[in-house]
Amino acid sequence: MNKFSVVIAGGGSTYTPGIVTMLLDNLDQFPIRKLKLYDNDEERQRVIGEALEIVLRENAPEIEYAFTTDPDEAFTDVDFCFAHIRTGKYKMRELDEKIPLKHGVVGQETCGPGGIAYGMRSIGDMIELIDIMEKYSPDCWMLNYSNPAAIVAEACRVLRPKAKVLNICDMPVGTLRRMSQIIGKQPKDLDVRYFGLNHFGWWTSIKDKEGHEYLPEIRDYVAKHGYLTQVEVDTQHMDQSWQETHKKAKDLLAVDPRFLPNTYLKYYFYPDYVVEHSDIHYTRANEVIDGREKEVFSAAERIVEKGTAKNESFSAGSHATFIVDLARAIAYNTHERMVMIVENNGAIANFDDDAMVEVPCIVGTDGPEPLSQGKIPEFERALMYQQVTVEKLVVKAYVEGSYQKLWQALTLSKTVPSAKVAKALLDDLIEANKEYWPELH
Ligand code: NAD
Ligand code: G6P
Ligand code: MN
Repeated sequence: MNKFSVVIAGGGSTYTPGIVTMLLDNLDQFPIRKLKLYDNDEERQRVIGEALEIVLRENAPEIEYAFTTDPDEAFTDVDFCFAHIRTGKYKMRELDEKIPLKHGVVGQETCGPGGIAYGMRSIGDMIELIDIMEKYSPDCWMLNYSNPAAIVAEACRVLRPKAKVLNICDMPVGTLRRMSQIIGKQPKDLDVRYFGLNHFGWWTSIKDKEGHEYLPEIRDYVAKHGYLTQVEVDTQHMDQSWQETHKKAKDLLAVDPRFLPNTYLKYYFYPDYVVEHSDIHYTRANEVIDGREKEVFSAAERIVEKGTAKNESFSAGSHATFIVDLARAIAYNTHERMVMIVENNGAIANFDDDAMVEVPCIVGTDGPEPLSQGKIPEFERALMYQQVTVEKLVVKAYVEGSYQKLWQALTLSKTVPSAKVAKALLDDLIEANKEYWPELH
């Protein structure tokens, strides 16, 4: 069996220890010879890097290991780059959430004005990362979680169309775990049909391998409880605010009971509810800083202090499962079926070819082959067209340095009530993102 070399970009991310744990648990199915962590923040990288050095020494000393802030060292001789960088870190996520709220608009990491602002920050760093990867390891695949995935994917399509970058999201995987629990199955027992954009989609079928359709049964459950489950099905998406999001899916389903909705539609269908239930002084970024970030970094610091990882563990949820499954599918040509963000090219028959959509794909050595999802109804199609145009305008605004196009993107977002609010918001976002955005004219 071939052994692979993996670099994790955003090596200081809160998700890195979970992914490394998952890699170590799957060495029999996805063997690795080399593991490197790469971050541009030396201090974050040091804490996570030193802790995982101990984890590796105790569990897989045969794997060559390094952590670094040097792109040359990180990207030389790698087969896979798992990317999850956050340009501007939680400090900027907090502003992405709080600035819109000040204007009475949804403040969210990837949806609405916050997602647009984050997109304008991410594009440059992602393109730079791709260029570095191609320079040092031209055959390497990048499996990218870095958000906002919809805008990043569109930027890759436009700016680096030939790059071996696959943009992915763990939400369809995480929600499928919930659906599986509802009907007493395992995710691997189920094949789904799904259409949409990233953080903006619907399941149209959930079948077992014998072809039994579970959508009606799941729908009856979701109509009452949303995706709230009786038992803990994951280690992520478990905080109280996430539980409320899972529950709110029942109100999303009510709008179109034919399909099972992605939870992120709540920001587009119920923006007024979201704003009313937000606290401008304490948003999700604050919860993550006080929660996941503290937990992961204190566990890492304890490991370094004690010199051993015994009695410490990092949680590895659907996020870690998915990226390792995907790497294996490419490495061993497994032809597994996975929901991914790809260029439409007819997968959704009545939607633009050049839209980056999220659909099930068969994944093998050549990457994803999208499965045809047929025609979609007018309601979803119109919503998607509005949203994909926002995403395309953001990328155009970035490329052209266009104030006008970014103002249009904000005006078009379903979360923003008027061009006037969009302009006021844009001016505040420009000020807050001076260090990160290109200059707009
Ligand atoms: P985090 O801030 O803990 O980690 C991100 C790391 O990236 C930080 O250590 C930061 O220093 C580093 N970084 C920033 N710019 C960089 C660059 N140019 N090069 C190298 N490293 C860089 O954030 P997190 O909460 O762990 O999330 C990480 C990323 O994963 C975010 O983009 C988040 O939105 C994304 N994410 C995506 C999905 C998905 O479904 N697609 C799921 C979970 C997380
Ligand atoms: C889900 C989404 C990701 C998003 C994350 C935010 O996993 O698919 O795209 O980044 O939630 O979670 P957080 O716990 O950081 O709010
Ligand atoms: Mn996602």
